[in-house]
Amino acid sequence: MKRRDWRFLRGFVLFSLLAFGLLQLWPRNHTNPPIVSVPNWDNAQTAEMVQRACFDCHSNETHWPWYTDIVPVSSLLEHDVEAGREVLNFSDWETSCCTDEQIERMAAIVGRDQMPPPYYVLLHPEARLTSEERGKLIYGLIATMENELDEE
Ligand code: HEC
Repeated sequence: MKRRDWRFLRGFVLFSLLAFGLLQLWPRNHTNPPIVSVPNWDNAQTAEMVQRACFDCHSNETHWPWYTDIVPVSSLLEHDVEAGREVLNFSDWETSCCTDEQIERMAAIVGRDQMPPPYYVLLHPEARLTSEERGKLIYGLIATMENELDEE
C-alpha cells in the first residue's frame, strides 16, 4: 500500500474508534418495573422453561449482562424488551393475558420455533428449546393461560 493509503486507513480506524466511543454516551434504560401479578403455573417445568427462554423479554425480571451496556446492542435489546413486555408480560399477567387469540398465536409462534428469537438463542444457548421441550411448553402454557381464563 502507498503511504497515503496507510494514512487514510489510520484516520479511518481512529475515526471509527472515536465514533464508537462517543456512541457509548447514548443513554440506556435498563429498568425492571415492579412485578404486578404472576401466572398460576400448571406445573414447575413450564415455569422453569419460560423463565429460562422467555423472561428476559416477556417479564419485569430481565437480566442485563455487561454486553447489554454496549451501544448498539443495548438499544436493540431495549427495543425488544419493551415490545416483548407490551405483547405478553409474565410479571403483569392479569393485564397482559389471556385471550383465545393470544393462546393461538403463542402455540403457532412456539411451534414454528420463532420464539425465542434466533439472535437471542445465539447469545443464550441455554434458552434453546428442543422440539420435545417446545411441545411441553406449548401444552403447559395453554394450561397456564386457561387457568387465567377460568379465574375470570
Ligand atoms: C429477545 C427477546 C425475546 C425473547 C427471549 C422471547 N420473545 Fe416473544 N416476543 C419478543 C418481541 C419483541 C415480540 C413482539 C414481536 C412483534 O410484535 O413483532 C414478541 C412476541 C411474542 C408473542 C406474540 C404475542 C402476540 O400476541 O402477538 C408471543 C406469543 C411470544 N413472543 C412468546 C414468547 C415465548 C413463549 C418465549 C419463550 C419461549 C419468547 N416469546 C421469548 C421478544 C422476545
